[in-house]
Amino acid sequence: MSTYKSEDQRKVTTHRLAEMKQRKEKISMLTAYDYSMASIIDQAGMDVILVGDSASNVICGNVTTLPITLDEMIFLAKGVVKAAKRALVVVDMPFGSCSGNPRMSLEAAIRIMKEAGAEALKIEGGVEIAEDIKKIIDAGIPVMGHLGLMPQSINKYGTYTVRAKEDAESEKLLSDAKLLEELGCFAVVLEKIPAQLAKQVTESLKIPTIGIGAGQHTDGQVLVMQDMLGISQGFSPRFLRRYADLNSIINMAVQQYISDVKSCDFPNENEQY
Ligand code: KIV
Repeated sequence: MSTYKSEDQRKVTTHRLAEMKQRKEKISMLTAYDYSMASIIDQAGMDVILVGDSASNVICGNVTTLPITLDEMIFLAKGVVKAAKRALVVVDMPFGSCSGNPRMSLEAAIRIMKEAGAEALKIEGGVEIAEDIKKIIDAGIPVMGHLGLMPQSINKYGTYTVRAKEDAESEKLLSDAKLLEELGCFAVVLEKIPAQLAKQVTESLKIPTIGIGAGQHTDGQVLVMQDMLGISQGFSPRFLRRYADLNSIINMAVQQYISDVKSCDFPNENEQY
């Protein structure tokens, strides 16, 4: 197994992500939702930790990302922020908190920044929420855009299949990406779109693109931690590479513990006072 750890221990900033794009250094990004896992991920050298609204699925057990609330996102983000010494911490604005009412969107954004200590926000959507994004950026809050498959719009799409395969949708995506850059976003996530379109977007923008299911030409990659560590089950899209099988490892450890308790093997004489 080959490993990589940057010698540069300075805090990652939005400015440094721009420099990484310029010198063609790929950006690593992974989700985390609690202090313990975020500490491990930060110490391993991750560039960006995303407190994704995928927490709705992998932490809260919901079927979609829609139910998670602003309060729940803030609660989770607080632990991650405390853990991240080097990584930039980006927090998702949950469904309904940024949807066409710029004043309310700014209020929600300020809550995440103030109460969780987030360093940047991620927002799903393009031209439809341009005014919201502008207001948030104007208030001094860094924003990462999110285009392509936007899970908060699952009820509109009706399916989690690859987006922007047709000309009209790919043209809109390209124009939304350029708009996000003009508005001042510092990066944009491209989820589940054809690799050639992601390449075109990446080459058209000065800001970094971070892909998930968008091929190898984006400036960085992001995965959901539970998926890449093999904790989640029954989710195996083509783009997902599993780096561990923690589900089996945890299951074996827990079974061993149960067996040791039942057989009175645990605790032994050295494990008591
Ligand atoms: O919520 C999330 O985890 C995300 C990533 C999949 C990009 O938005």
